[in-house]
Amino acid sequence: MLTTMASMARADKGLLDRRIFVDPDIYKQELEQVFGRCWLYLGHESQVDKPNDFLGTYMGEDPVLLTRDSKGKLHGFLNMCRHRGNRISRADFGNCPSFMCTYHGWTFTTDGKLVGVPGYKEAYFEELDRSQWGLVETAQIESYKGLVFATWDRQAPPLIKYLGGMSFELDFLVGRHDSPTQVLSGVNRWALNANWKYPADNFGGDDGHHAITHGSVRHLDSDRAYSSSFAGRGGLQARNELRDPLENFKRGPIRDYYRSHVEEAKKRLGLKENDPRGYAGSVGTVFPNTSIHCVRHSIRTWHPRGPTKTEIWSYCIVDKDAPDEVKNAMKTYLTGSFSPGGVLEQDDMNNWLQSTSTAMSPTAQKYVQGILAGLGHDSEKFTIGTKLRQIYARWANMMDAPSWSEVKLDWRYGRE
Ligand code: FES
Ligand SMILES: [Fe+2]
Repeated sequence: MLTTMASMARADKGLLDRRIFVDPDIYKQELEQVFGRCWLYLGHESQVDKPNDFLGTYMGEDPVLLTRDSKGKLHGFLNMCRHRGNRISRADFGNCPSFMCTYHGWTFTTDGKLVGVPGYKEAYFEELDRSQWGLVETAQIESYKGLVFATWDRQAPPLIKYLGGMSFELDFLVGRHDSPTQVLSGVNRWALNANWKYPADNFGGDDGHHAITHGSVRHLDSDRAYSSSFAGRGGLQARNELRDPLENFKRGPIRDYYRSHVEEAKKRLGLKENDPRGYAGSVGTVFPNTSIHCVRHSIRTWHPRGPTKTEIWSYCIVDKDAPDEVKNAMKTYLTGSFSPGGVLEQDDMNNWLQSTSTAMSPTAQKYVQGILAGLGHDSEKFTIGTKLRQIYARWANMMDAPSWSEVKLDWRYGRE
């Protein structure tokens, strides 16, 4: 009998086997069961605005091209030539009607068709059925208010069902204002020797770390208002606890901009006066590896690069119609806190590195790790620890489920 992941990530007991963060076989299973089947974030529509725009990204470890074809339709393709496997594009982004592979010259259009084969007459005797050798396309691709997700799995539920309550959280980022949103200044990328699940669970549900990990930053004037605490509640981990969420932006253009459409935002988000959820939004993770940080106007993907390495891709998302001064202030606010040199990011990264490296030791692996806060007290009102356990219950379910029919999408930990 094979080991089930439910026996290694025992959410009901709050116990995790450390090997799930370092074991190569478990990682391989993740690539198939999680990254091969879930909806994954490819990019923002504004990055492929015009016909024949394209963007290079990843789904799990697979290089992927997000394209907008000549007719304006979005596609996700494996960035792999069907001939011998060379990448058909090595650029991060651009605009072109077709991609010519640099190995033997097979050429594909932005809708994935193979249209050029050198030697088609002389070497292939016109017998090659080019219609069978187009690019490998994602099974489904959808946009949620400009955020483009795709999945390799035809059986995956529609994106909106998959997102569930996270669509409400995403609205704080992309549905707060009449203006469409856009990605500002490309992508900030860096790598980290940590398992991808540490940052994904940190953004999605690690309630307890903020007051300690970021203790020193809280003394800085610029971030004094960013003070989620052990008392933090709500659906996601670093929910703003202040009565006036605008306190996050103590002064300056961001605060003024937010104030200018407070009522519109409340209406669009369906928030009541003094709604405890605030209206600036929160921090969270769309399972498995896409996280949002609404207060910092950002979305990011934790791309796995082996069991103990992660590449972080972070984007600044702003309202397209916002004044340039506001957009620039948002970018500075984001990169000063969350980026390779960001004061908060550096605090976090060090913890994820250490937690990954200790898990490599056979001695350490004899001892399970505990995600025990609030265990047995989970309720609507008390959710400290609940979200972390829910993430690992979801992870184990995806890892063990042979098909989507056995994935418990509507199930919520602690609500049975
Ligand atoms: S590998 Fe692409 S043309 Fe041969
Ligand atoms: Fe943090």
